[in-house]
Amino acid sequence: MSGSHHLNIFLVWVFLMVGNNAFGSDSLTYFIDIKPIIDENCTGCHRKDQTAPFSLESYEDVKKRISMIEMVVESKYMPPWHADTLFRTFHNQRALSEQSLNKILTWIKSGAPEGLPEKKGAVNVLKWPSPDKIVAFQKPFIIPGDNKEQYRFFVIPVDNPSPIYLRGVGFVPKNKTLAHHSRIMIDTTKRIRPFDAASVWQAGPQLEKMNIPLANSFWTGWVPGNFPLFYPDGVAKVLPANADLVVNMHYAPSAKEEFDQSEIHLYYAKGKPRRIIETLVFDETWVTNKPFEFQPDTVITFYMRSPVLPVDLSLLSVLPHMHLLGKSFKSFAITPDGDMIPLIHIPEWDFNWQQTYQFNHLLKIPRGSVIYAEATFDNSKNNPKNPYFPPAKVKYGWGTKDEMMNLIFEYLLYEPGDEYLDFYGAEN
Ligand code: HEC
Repeated sequence: MSGSHHLNIFLVWVFLMVGNNAFGSDSLTYFIDIKPIIDENCTGCHRKDQTAPFSLESYEDVKKRISMIEMVVESKYMPPWHADTLFRTFHNQRALSEQSLNKILTWIKSGAPEGLPEKKGAVNVLKWPSPDKIVAFQKPFIIPGDNKEQYRFFVIPVDNPSPIYLRGVGFVPKNKTLAHHSRIMIDTTKRIRPFDAASVWQAGPQLEKMNIPLANSFWTGWVPGNFPLFYPDGVAKVLPANADLVVNMHYAPSAKEEFDQSEIHLYYAKGKPRRIIETLVFDETWVTNKPFEFQPDTVITFYMRSPVLPVDLSLLSVLPHMHLLGKSFKSFAITPDGDMIPLIHIPEWDFNWQQTYQFNHLLKIPRGSVIYAEATFDNSKNNPKNPYFPPAKVKYGWGTKDEMMNLIFEYLLYEPGDEYLDFYGAEN
C-alpha cells in the first residue's frame, strides 16, 4: 500500500517537472535527439558533394539555418516527397514521422541546444553492399559553363555475352551537384552507340525516326537522394546479353566548366533466380482520348487504360513520367469485383523529382483487372515550367520541350505469399 502511494507521489513529481519544461523540451538536445533524425532524413542529400545546396552534417550547419529548417519541415517541403501519402504509402517513402517532426519543432522552440559535447561523434554512415560490377560513361563529359541546362544521351556498352541477373542496381552520378535526373534504357542493337554524349534536343528526333526497338525503354531511373534499388530475395532484374545501357541524363545549368562521368553499379544475384522482373510500360499509344497534342493556352487531361490483365500480377514499383507541361498524375486498378486499388497519385508534378516508387510489399493485381492512368497537362502561361513563351503547340517527342505520358511498372507473375515478400535491406 505505502509503496504504491510513494510511487504515485513520485509520478506527480515527475509530471510537474516535465510539465514545467513544455513536454520535456529542455531535455531535447542536438546530439541525442536531433542528429539521428537529421542523419536519417536529411543528410542523404544535405552533405558535402551531394545534390542539396548545403550540408546539414554538423551542429553548426543546422544551427545556422534553424529558422529555415523550422519552416521547411513544418510545411513538409522537406524532405521532398511528391506522392500523395493518403492515396498510397511506399517502401522508399521519405517523410518525417509526426514524432520526429514534433521533436525537431520542440527542440527549435527551446533554443536548439547542442547538448553535451561528450555525446559527439556518432557519425552517420549510409551503408549498402559493394557492387559486383561498376560500369561508367565511356569518357568524362565536359559540362560547359554556359548557364544552360544539358540534356544528353550516354551509351555504356556492357558487352556481356550472356544475361546478367541482378539483385540490385544503382545509378551513381559523379557530379552530384549538377546531375539532376537520369533515365536508363537498354538497347541490344548497338545502333545508339554513335549517339554517345549527343544532345537529346539534337539527336532525339533522329533517334525517334530510327524507331529502334529498345530491349527496355525504362530500365531504371535516378533522382537526387536515390540510392541503389534492391529486389526481394529470389527475384532478379535482368540485363540482357549484349546490352548497351543508354542513359538519358539531365544536368542543371552551370556557370563554370565541370565534368561528369557517372557510374552504374550492378549487384549480382546468386545464380539464376527463378523469378525475373518484367517491365510493363504504358505509353502514349494507350491514350484513350487522342490525339496526344497540346494546344496553346489550354489545360488538358489525358487518360490511359491497360488491356484486361490475363493473369495475376505482383507489382514491385511504379514510375510515372511526363515532361514540363505535366501538372498531376494518378493511376489505379479496378478489379473484376469493381474494387479500386490505388497505385500512385502525384498532385503536383515536378519534372526534377521523377522517381521509382517501390510498393511497401509486392502488390497483387488480380487477373481481370484494368489499370487506369490520368494525367493533367498545363500548356498555358500559368505554368511557370512551360518551355514556350508565349505558349505554343506541343506534341509527343523525346525532347524535354516535347511531351510524354508514360507509366512504368516493375512486376512479377503473382505467386501465393507475394504479399509478404519484402524488399531487401538498404533503404532509400
Ligand atoms: C532527396 C534529397 C533531399 C532530402 C532528403 C532533403 N533535402 Fe532539403 N533540399 C534538397 C534540395 C535539392 C534543396 C534545394 C532546392 C529546393 O529548395 O527545393 C533543398 C533545400 C532545403 C532547404 C532550403 C529551402 C529554401 O527555401 O531555400 C532547407 C532548409 C532544407 N532543404 C532542409 C532539409 C531538411 C531539414 C531535411 C530533412 C528533414 C531535408 N532538407 C531533406 C534536397 C533534399
